[in-house]
Amino acid sequence: MNKHGDAAETVVFARADASCAAREWAEAQAGVRVVSGEPEAEDSPVLLLDGGGLALMGNGQLLRGDFQKLLPRTIPNKLNGELLVKAAKLKNVPGPLTAVDATAGLGEDAFLLAAAGFDVRLYERDRVIALLLGDALRRSLEDPALAPISERMTLFAEDSVAALPALETPPDVIVLDPMFPARQKSALIKKKFQLLQQLERPCADEEALLNAALAARPLRIVVKRPLKGPYLAGQKPAYSLEGKSIRYDCIVVPRDGAQG
Ligand SMILES: C[S@@+](CC[C@H](N)C(=O)[O-])C[C@H]1O[C@@H](n2cnc3c(N)ncnc32)[C@H](O)[C@@H]1O
Repeated sequence: MNKHGDAAETVVFARADASCAAREWAEAQAGVRVVSGEPEAEDSPVLLLDGGGLALMGNGQLLRGDFQKLLPRTIPNKLNGELLVKAAKLKNVPGPLTAVDATAGLGEDAFLLAAAGFDVRLYERDRVIALLLGDALRRSLEDPALAPISERMTLFAEDSVAALPALETPPDVIVLDPMFPARQKSALIKKKFQLLQQLERPCADEEALLNAALAARPLRIVVKRPLKGPYLAGQKPAYSLEGKSIRYDCIVVPRDGAQG
């Protein structure tokens, strides 16, 4: 793979068990070249297409987007207890509610919001992460249990700092979760997370991200932070919801006649 997304071409190695649909999807992605066969031993992670879909391979790990594992959390009384859903739900606003996940990653937060009924636009600026997310969405649309949820998710492989101020219709909610230091405990998750971290750049300009979100004029901005982490760009929220290790800071943006 040419080094993580910025150069013109991203190589995907397709194993023999990759489905035709997956291969066609990968070939249709801008800037992607699909090569049959196994990657040679590489120092840096490579993209691999196999029977399970698109994966990032490195550190002896395969990392792929996986919405299936989130299904147990979408059972209604569990979902309504999700801190993110509590932070994002708006009262007295006619539905369907709309959300933008401006830092989509592998789309897990966006999937929970879509399960809670939001129409979600997902922005992911890293090309490799956006490909992994795009493939997870492709697979989920083929799965009858996931499709009713993922049909409400639309991916844009773009930088949200540029895209948000240009949105024609203000979304109801914007979620921001720029990278912060690793929070997972298990050694296995840590290894996979490290693989992802090789691609993610730490948020260099928190103010630009927050200002872009404000420029899109949502009713609420929900910022995911480590429990003891500082406020994004130093912006004090209206209130916060706290979990065991995560905190959601809720910034309320007044808009005519509606309540954030
Ligand atoms: C911590 S991860 C988000 C994880 C996500 N909340 C989830 O549930 O899977 C942060 C992601 O935001 C992306 N990102 C950061 N700044 C961005 C921007 N300005 N536009 C689009 N994506 C951005 C990074 O590339 C990274 O994939």
